[in-house]
Amino acid sequence: MSDLISKVTTRDMVLDDVDKVIEIENQCFPIPWSPYAFRCEILDNNFANYLVLINKEKPEEILGYAGMWVILDEAHVTNIAIAPNHRGKRLGEFLLLSLIARALTKGATAITLEVRVSNTPALKLYEKIGFTKEGIRKGYYQDNNEDGIIMWKKLV
Ligand SMILES: CC(C)(COP(=O)(O)OP(=O)(O)OC[C@H]1O[C@@H](n2cnc3c(N)ncnc32)[C@H](O)[C@@H]1OP(=O)(O)O)[C@@H](O)C(=O)NCCC(=O)NCCS
Repeated sequence: MSDLISKVTTRDMVLDDVDKVIEIENQCFPIPWSPYAFRCEILDNNFANYLVLINKEKPEEILGYAGMWVILDEAHVTNIAIAPNHRGKRLGEFLLLSLIARALTKGATAITLEVRVSNTPALKLYEKIGFTKEGIRKGYYQDNNEDGIIMWKKLV
């Protein structure tokens, strides 16, 4: 069992992180966000909260990242990813719980996200954290017309 989990922490994503984030993004998603999209989120979107996951002993490496918009009392997760070589070490769980903690500090009372019906690792992670399936967006994902499952978790 890796002890990496005992060495990780999160911090806010900054512009200098974007190149490393994009490397992970390109490995994880069929329709990856562009560097421009992340820069706009960091610079221009007052609702946006983006975290990067790092090893405190090796802070230059980014292990994963996650983001959300918090609008009034609702948080909407936009993305979450762990670098492929660091999966299965409880880092995704740590990162999602960190994002939820941030959502709470911003006043959110519920958090939502969409996930591909075929994305078992993510679905299982969300269920483990207490998200429940509340609906379906038919053909939500444009690359293969796959349905998106809408999940919610109450925070208070
Ligand atoms: C989804 C993702 C973030 C999970 O990160 P991770 O660090 O590998 O997950 P963790 O090690 O923290 O696992 C936590 C829980 O998630 C579930 N899980 C994670 N990987 C799983 C897998 N391959 N199969 C089934 N369940 C899995 C389990 O419930 C696990 O808890 P357990 O270890 O007690 O069984 C990661 O797979 C990823 O980055 N995927 C690509 C990007 C993506 O799909 N993002 C989600 C978009 S909606």
